[in-house]
Amino acid sequence: MNLIKSKKRVADHGEVFTPPWLVERMLDLVKGETERIDSRFLEPACGSGNFLVPILQRKLAAVELKFGKSDFEKRHYALLALMCAYGVELLADNIAECRANMLEVFADYLNLDETDELYHAASFVLSLNLVHGDAMTMRDTEGAPIRVVEWGYLGKGKFQRRDFRLDVLTGMASFSAEGSLFAHLGKHEIFTPTKIYPPMTVRDLAGGDILGGAA
Ligand SMILES: C[S@@+](CC[C@H](N)C(=O)[O-])C[C@H]1O[C@@H](n2cnc3c(N)ncnc32)[C@H](O)[C@@H]1O
Repeated sequence: MNLIKSKKRVADHGEVFTPPWLVERMLDLVKGETERIDSRFLEPACGSGNFLVPILQRKLAAVELKFGKSDFEKRHYALLALMCAYGVELLADNIAECRANMLEVFADYLNLDETDELYHAASFVLSLNLVHGDAMTMRDTEGAPIRVVEWGYLGKGKFQRRDFRLDVLTGMASFSAEGSLFAHLGKHEIFTPTKIYPPMTVRDLAGGDILGGAA
């Protein structure tokens, strides 16, 4: 397996991919979380998904164990599993590969093709969760603050979406540090979504993809 694309990219962007055997050993350190459908993982330099893809595979194995017998539950919990994987990546080709790799694993698991609404819902979720941007400045390629979409499954085919800012979320620890200017504030005062959406179905989410991805 090639762990680098070019010497220039290694020099310019530190692009050296982690080999699969090492990824598996690292994920085993948090095995329980990787096998929990709704545990959230954020990889701030996700490359083409060397960590996020196996995380999704582990979560889908958990979906199969728990919900394999009901097609409805299996499809919705598989989407929830996908919704819980997040990445940021600086290079356009890497983020495109990462989204494609994740979508392929998801579609293969559920035997989906492009005629299926769930395929488009998944593609829309990936366009939001896998951000083309800079994890250091926490801004996307347009210069806007990186958005983190929190997804939840409400049951009966409905999903909840709330948007947050990455720079605010990652500042949480310092906000609550003893003696800091913000220590007296409750977490709810900092942990405020920038937008809350009404519950959405797979069809609603698929509509987002057909209208052109992340919005
Ligand atoms: C060492 S590679 C690791 C890729 C992947 N996480 C893996 O383990 O295989 C680092 C990745 O981070 C990306 N990268 C470098 N600087 C970045 C930044 N400021 N924000 C987001 N991604 C960045 C590179 O393009 C590259 O894909």
